[in-house]
Amino acid sequence: MHLLSIEDLSDAQIATILDEGERWFAYNRQPRRNDRRLDGLTIVNAFFENSTRTLLSFEIAANRLGAQVVTMQVAHSSIKKGETLEDTARTLNAMRPDALVIRHAKSGAPHDISAIMDCPVVNAGDGIGEHPTQALLDAATIRQHFGRIGGLKIAICGDIKHSRVARSNAKLLGRLGADLRFVGPPSLMPPELGGGSIDAAVDGANVVMMLRVQRERLEDDLGDAPGEFLSRYGLTEARFAKAAPDAVIMHPGPINRGVEIEGPLADHAERSLIVRQVEMGVAVRMAVLDLLTATRRG
Ligand code: NCD
Repeated sequence: MHLLSIEDLSDAQIATILDEGERWFAYNRQPRRNDRRLDGLTIVNAFFENSTRTLLSFEIAANRLGAQVVTMQVAHSSIKKGETLEDTARTLNAMRPDALVIRHAKSGAPHDISAIMDCPVVNAGDGIGEHPTQALLDAATIRQHFGRIGGLKIAICGDIKHSRVARSNAKLLGRLGADLRFVGPPSLMPPELGGGSIDAAVDGANVVMMLRVQRERLEDDLGDAPGEFLSRYGLTEARFAKAAPDAVIMHPGPINRGVEIEGPLADHAERSLIVRQVEMGVAVRMAVLDLLTATRRG
């Protein structure tokens, strides 16, 4: 089994990952953790795009379950000598890993590689495609906080067009019964996901999820003056005041303070779940690695 898209998961598997994620969250807060269920397995991380949260949390998740973890040094790899991604995959496969976690700038790259690999492949973000474990950790964080997802009003705001996080969340949170609203600058909105103003989207929302402008994926620069994005499309104190009284702020990171979100809102002690999302990321990735390697452990 691979995890390339939210569509690879059954409803029962989603429920298992969310339940187990919450359990691992509590487990990770204990002073000593000694679960060794992935003992004897080798997990390879191959990140062909920058990452802080996703790479480290996959490394920690695999380590905490007792696996041997190897992270490929992409900058020092033979990709720099002209080797194709497929040949790199054949090379990795010959070393018999038990799971491969891959991030790549090309949409569909993890899918292409999964046809070559004999082990489960996890998509840790492919271009503007999907980022299924981010959506799973977002869902787990929301469910932990509110005790449910169904019926919650969730506004996802910013560069929707280039966001693999938004794409995976549209599938997952939609399936779990959330009332989703997507909003961003017209040039950064895929037509099928609606539109409207950020003020209307945030009005009465229980969750406001902000996204970074993926400037590295823009064909033309946005051409926005400093402060313009925040005032037109960003999360400001005045806008957030219109959200539901119990509303929380989420962001997958990395944050661009003062661009899509005012810094103090990102740090808000009661309202911001951004750091909680990171903590849940380790827990949910433990649940994912456990599920995907279960059949290999006999
Ligand atoms: C996101 C990503 O890489 O897709 N970050 C993450 O994984 N937490 C979002 C982003 O880069 O803005």
